[in-house]
Amino acid sequence: MALVDKCAAIVAMRHTRSEVVTASVDSVDFRSGVRVGNILVLNGRLNAVFRSSMEVEIEVHSEDPLTGDRHLTTRAFVTMVAMAADGRIAPAPQLAFATHDERERAAAAETRRRERIARRA
Ligand SMILES: CC(C)(COP(=O)(O)OP(=O)(O)OC[C@H]1O[C@@H](n2cnc3c(N)ncnc32)[C@H](O)[C@@H]1OP(=O)(O)O)[C@@H](O)C(=O)NCCC(=O)NCCS
Repeated sequence: MALVDKCAAIVAMRHTRSEVVTASVDSVDFRSGVRVGNILVLNGRLNAVFRSSMEVEIEVHSEDPLTGDRHLTTRAFVTMVAMAADGRIAPAPQLAFATHDERERAAAAETRRRERIARRA
C-alpha cells in the first residue's frame, strides 16, 4: 500500500509540479500474492484531472527475477489533491487527451468520482 501511495504521489506531482495529498484509495484489488524474492514493478497513469483532485491508476506487477515472468498483483485507483505552497488546495492543470483510449479512461474515472462523492455524502 505504501508503494502504491508513493507511486500515485509521483505521478500527480509530475503532472502538477506541486505538493499533493492522498484523498482516497479505492478499488485495491489483490489479484495474486507476491513470492519472497520477486520484484515489484509499479506503473502509474493519470486517468483524469477534475479540479484540484485527480485520479491516478496504479498497477503492480510481480516479476520473477530468474525467469522475468510477470503477473498483475494489484490495481488501485488513488485520488490525489494538488496543494499550493501555502498548504491550500489548488487547481491542477487540466489533462490533454490524445487518444480515444485516454478519453475512455477519463470517462470511467469521472464515473468513479461520482460514486466516491456519493459515498461521502
Ligand atoms: C483531501 C483533502 C485535502 C480534501 O480537503 P477538503 O477540505 O475536503 O476539500 P474539498 O472538499 O474542497 O475537496 C478538494 C478536492 O478533494 C476531493 N476529495 C475530498 N475528499 C475526497 C475523498 N475522500 N475521496 C476523493 N476525493 C476527495 C474533492 O472532491 C475535491 O475535488 P475537486 O477539487 O477536484 O472537485 C483533506 O480531506 C485532507 O487533507 N485529507 C487528509 C489527507 C491525508 O492526510 N492524506 C494522507 C493519507 S495517507
